[in-house]
Amino acid sequence: MMTDRLIGMFEQSDGKFLSGEQLSEELGVSRTAVWKQIERLRQQGYLFEAVSRKGYRLLSKPDKLDMSRLQLKLETERFGRFVKYYDQVESTQIVAARCVEEGAEEGTLIFAEQQTAGKGRMGRLWHSPIGKGIWMSLILKPVWIPLLFTPQLTLLVAVALCRAIRSATGVEAGIKWPNDLLVGGKKVAGILLESSAEDERLQHIIAGVGISVNLQSDDFPPELRDAATSLAIEAGRQVDRIEVLSRFLQEWEQLYELYRREGFAPIKLLWEALTVSLHRNIRCRTPQGDFEGFAEGIDEHGALQLRTADGSVRKLYSADISFG
Ligand code: BTN
Repeated sequence: MMTDRLIGMFEQSDGKFLSGEQLSEELGVSRTAVWKQIERLRQQGYLFEAVSRKGYRLLSKPDKLDMSRLQLKLETERFGRFVKYYDQVESTQIVAARCVEEGAEEGTLIFAEQQTAGKGRMGRLWHSPIGKGIWMSLILKPVWIPLLFTPQLTLLVAVALCRAIRSATGVEAGIKWPNDLLVGGKKVAGILLESSAEDERLQHIIAGVGISVNLQSDDFPPELRDAATSLAIEAGRQVDRIEVLSRFLQEWEQLYELYRREGFAPIKLLWEALTVSLHRNIRCRTPQGDFEGFAEGIDEHGALQLRTADGSVRKLYSADISFG
């Protein structure tokens, strides 16, 4: 309640300074309590300028996704038609798993403005600051495909995302096998598929996608700055998250239907046109060990075919690759 009143006072102040004294009198609390609230708001993405003797001035508020605008923009039938929206969660993957247990339908979208423990691949953390990205999980129930084909779905999601980024922002993203989106060699988005199966058949998939949309370089932790980028950095302007998200869901639903009707062949062609991983020397880190070789192509299951120095071809289903 006090937070809402505090925000209200700053909104009505027209960008002018409000002194600590003024705020504490009006809210009927101590100046320390005001300061604590302001710190809390800062953690939620509000930007304040503090000047001694003048007080505080609101510079900007966190960007919040407007759900009704998303629904108006969406042209999908099922994907994103039912949305669970959160200001902050540990991980949308965890929320999605709970939704599946409660019987959520295919196409249910879980979206969070911030994740405190976003999950990346290989046990890594995914940096998900407030209001700056698309941190989402989509529930899929492809009970019609054998478990063996799961890697194909990762490639399908990557194609949908790459096409959406290109058309919504003009940024020339490329796909790095199996599930990264790169711009100029830096990572702009990542995909994490978690599946559950019974008797070799898929029951459901929780498709987690993290897109760094409006992060600036100093929003990334120092250790990521050389390897990561955002759509805003690459486009040189603030990017509308709803534009990217709605196009992505639309591309994804269309490709998913195409895949259901015609199988992996058309998806494979689209993927080959957008990838930056093929026909070059690569290094692969896998749970089975490290390999080097020439990336010749992907097979009909979505596995990467790596020709190694002894001339043999090794098939990889998941790995961390780097370019040699
Ligand atoms: C990767 O390592 O490249 C995959 C990153 C996937 C991150 C997304 S953000 C939304 C969803 N929730 C999570 O906890 N992780 C995925």
